[in-house]
Amino acid sequence: MKNESPPAMEAEDDRPGALTRRAVFQTSAALVALQAAGQAVAQSAPPPATAPAELAELPPQRMALTLHINGQARSFNVDTRTTLLDALRENLHLTGTKKGCDHGQCGACTVLIEGRRTNACLTLAVMHDGQHVTTIEGLARGDQLHPVQAAFLKHDGFQCGYCTPGQICSTVGMLGEAARGMPSHVTRDLDAGSVLLSEAEIRERMSGNLCRCSAYPNIVAAIQDVSGART
Ligand code: FES
Ligand code: FES
Repeated sequence: MKNESPPAMEAEDDRPGALTRRAVFQTSAALVALQAAGQAVAQSAPPPATAPAELAELPPQRMALTLHINGQARSFNVDTRTTLLDALRENLHLTGTKKGCDHGQCGACTVLIEGRRTNACLTLAVMHDGQHVTTIEGLARGDQLHPVQAAFLKHDGFQCGYCTPGQICSTVGMLGEAARGMPSHVTRDLDAGSVLLSEAEIRERMSGNLCRCSAYPNIVAAIQDVSGART
């Protein structure tokens, strides 16, 4: 029987530049020591600097402004960080404009500023000093509903109603855009002058107004009715 001795350790490679086991152990030990030293420095370092004391103590900046809301001049004083949506709801108590996402994603806060539909949660009140704002409260004439409001009622264009003020204000703005020939993403003929509001046009143009109750078919029917595309 052949007498086998245990395998011998491989001899270290002494050639210049060769990676030896000893060099690997030495490098690892050095790295661990460096890491420990780094942690010690980090623990003894002062906490990160905070905002300068004079900035932290700045009081809220307030500004007087006048908005022409639904044909009436409303002057008030507001923190300059206040959105138009919060100014309408909290300062002027016009709660018809709804807060959904507060991030420009749902359209519940849509109002008309100088006739243009705008998400009131995405703009500061002080940016509109002297401008005309129409909210859902300003569309009816006394007991006479705005035609868009009447069409939404006629076609049951809502369920819970939370999105409805924004849907209606957005529709009013959108009808004006279409009448002025403003194209949408799905408009085929850019030279037509005015736009026939097909279902595809309405859905595209109203895509910024979400309805959690999914009343979309009835909303589209109401808009087609009021736009004359449907009788
Ligand atoms: S609340 Fe303004 S877009 Fe949703
Ligand atoms: S009717 Fe309920 S969210 Fe639109």
